[in-house]
Amino acid sequence: MSAKRHIALLMGGKSKEREVSLASGGEIMAHIDRDRFNVAVYDPVKDLSLLLDHAPRLDLAFLALHGAYGEDGTIQGFCELAGLPYIGSGVLASAMAIDKNVAKKIYREAGLPVARDLVLDKRTAGGGLADEARRAMDMLGAPVVVKPLRQGSSVGLSIVRDEGALSAALDEVFSLDGAAMLEEYLPGREFTCGVVGNLKTTALPIIEIIPAEGHQFFDYSAKYEPGQSEEICPADLTVSAAADISRLAVAAHLALGCRGLSRTDFILVDGRPFILETNTLPGMTSGSLLPKMAKTYGLSFTSFISYLIDLVLEPVEPDLDFYKV
Ligand SMILES: Nc1ncnc2c1ncn2[C@@H]1O[C@H](COP(=O)(O)OP(=O)(O)O)[C@@H](O)[C@H]1O
Ligand SMILES: [Mg+2]
Repeated sequence: MSAKRHIALLMGGKSKEREVSLASGGEIMAHIDRDRFNVAVYDPVKDLSLLLDHAPRLDLAFLALHGAYGEDGTIQGFCELAGLPYIGSGVLASAMAIDKNVAKKIYREAGLPVARDLVLDKRTAGGGLADEARRAMDMLGAPVVVKPLRQGSSVGLSIVRDEGALSAALDEVFSLDGAAMLEEYLPGREFTCGVVGNLKTTALPIIEIIPAEGHQFFDYSAKYEPGQSEEICPADLTVSAAADISRLAVAAHLALGCRGLSRTDFILVDGRPFILETNTLPGMTSGSLLPKMAKTYGLSFTSFISYLIDLVLEPVEPDLDFYKV
């Protein structure tokens, strides 16, 4: 048997999704194949210089990080400089995907369907910010979704039904980000679709997300508190709607230049899917959406982790079906 590979498991970090990252990392630690991999944990908040020192002896960084400084290209840049291979997308794709304004420009350019929006920058809007926000709301129609450009896990996001509630929603976004996206509200069922692979991309089985009663949308607590959302996999969709969503998830992954893995969120309006966003390092607990899709495809959590690592380390791209249990 070949020698064990040395994996640096990066978890923690300083984004708003630190707790989510610790949960992802903890479960990866518990489930990774110990016969094949040696694992050491590093928290980017305190261990970067250690990681730099150890990099020559490490085979790969497994990034169990989400949001700022994890999913946004910065840690990817660090790994590039350290000469340390890492799972998932590179610097540019990560940086583009985390910014909802940039990502939507890329999707539009590629002819992919997205909701209409207007972006308000707190620097340029100056004193006329409130007026500009009201004009945006008039143009997009109520309700509007107000979201920060560079967060995840629904942090800072709200649905605004009347102009009176706009300024509180904008204050919330501006406490996190320099710019806010006001987006047309899409009424419809919500889906998410994972894509894995490098040259051979595979769309995994789609999940429908149904937030529990009392949640207006897939908010933070619906995402992470047990029982606060129902996640149906494979989703109950017509063959053509499922094919559309799978095709668009692969197209979004490719348009952004993603690598290894991604998960794209959708809302289906009257049979037409619209892309909300692409996550380049989605949640990775055993019960998270992407591992759940992989499980429906036929992969245990352990073999899914091995596949993501082998995608980077094997000289020839491994076949996903080889990892089925
Ligand atoms: N335009 C929209 N119309 C309806 N619901 C939306 C819209 N945008 C976001 N949402 C809801 O908010 C959630 C989070 O939005 P998303 O854009 O995916 O940002 P995040 O990066 O925080 O996950 C979605 O899963 C969905 O439930
Ligand atoms: Mg999302």
